[in-house]
Amino acid sequence: MRTRTLLAAAAAGVLLVGPVQATSLAEPAATNPAATPSAPVSAVLAAPDIPIANVRAHLTQLQTIATNNGGNRAHGRPGYRASVDYIRARLDAAGYTTTLQSFTSGGATGYNLLAEWPRGDANNVIMAGGHLDSVTAGPGINDNGSGSAALLEVALAVSRQNLTPTNRLRFGWWGAEERGLVGSTYYVNNLPSADRSRIRGYLNFDMIGSPNPGYFVYSASGQPSGSAELQRVLAAPFAAMGVPTELTSVGGRSDHAAFARAGIPIGGLFTGAEGTKTSAQAQKWGGTAGQAYDRCYHASCDTTSNINATALDRNSDAIAQAVWTLVGG
Ligand code: TRP
Ligand code: CA
Ligand code: ZN
Repeated sequence: MRTRTLLAAAAAGVLLVGPVQATSLAEPAATNPAATPSAPVSAVLAAPDIPIANVRAHLTQLQTIATNNGGNRAHGRPGYRASVDYIRARLDAAGYTTTLQSFTSGGATGYNLLAEWPRGDANNVIMAGGHLDSVTAGPGINDNGSGSAALLEVALAVSRQNLTPTNRLRFGWWGAEERGLVGSTYYVNNLPSADRSRIRGYLNFDMIGSPNPGYFVYSASGQPSGSAELQRVLAAPFAAMGVPTELTSVGGRSDHAAFARAGIPIGGLFTGAEGTKTSAQAQKWGGTAGQAYDRCYHASCDTTSNINATALDRNSDAIAQAVWTLVGG
């Protein structure tokens, strides 16, 4: 039974409540109420800036893994397992409790990697995730090395800040998304119902560094109730950066779908795949009208050259701000 809204849960025991908190986290410390003399000692810390150089270094590692393993990081191929091992080793070194969940798809073993930050109320879990597998055609650096690398660096930032959040934070790197959302569906379908009911929201990050980027926030329309709050929390950092966003109806095209089917509020960010950037979008976002957001979508050219660093940086910072808001840093 959900008795509290996401932000109410995040704000429990701290000074800030509701939309005020989302705004203050997107602003410099000078306007943060936690910095006023009346603030409690355990003040809310602002989300850190996520260093884009670190995110790109993870992408370089994923590219090397693909190059050394037949050019891809696909389900059932050695490049997938090596990708899991890379992410897991860094999380373990940073103090996460990691779990490898295996499943079978197409006659091959696949893996989901789960990482929990071992502090905060385990009855109020915020999840953030994305798929770690590529298609067989290429290394999958934008799809979805980008989301995978950003999630890893946000997780490492939680550790660097030694965060003691109000809520529990759990990350997921899903296997076999490209075979039909297999890993995330397996995870949700095999969660005991008591564990499922503890998840207050799921945030999905699949393709967030597209070379001709749009700035899309998953629309809450038609999604479980509570999703509108996630839509707002994910849009707020872009508003603070002065970057306009559009809502996108994501339907069932990524790993949020299984969570939504289970009635869990969902949200996410996306910079575009095979769709074409309009001239109105090129006016407000830059880039090239009449061209795909990602011309290398599901192709061999989805390499480290297929990344817009500005888009990846903005999205990484937005993930951190949303996560800090929702867990009550
Ligand atoms: N999930 C798709 C893939 O990995 C990409 C994609 C297309 C997508 N449309 C989307 C992801 C909308 C998130 C939202 O190939
Ligand atoms: Ca940054
Ligand atoms: Zn993808």
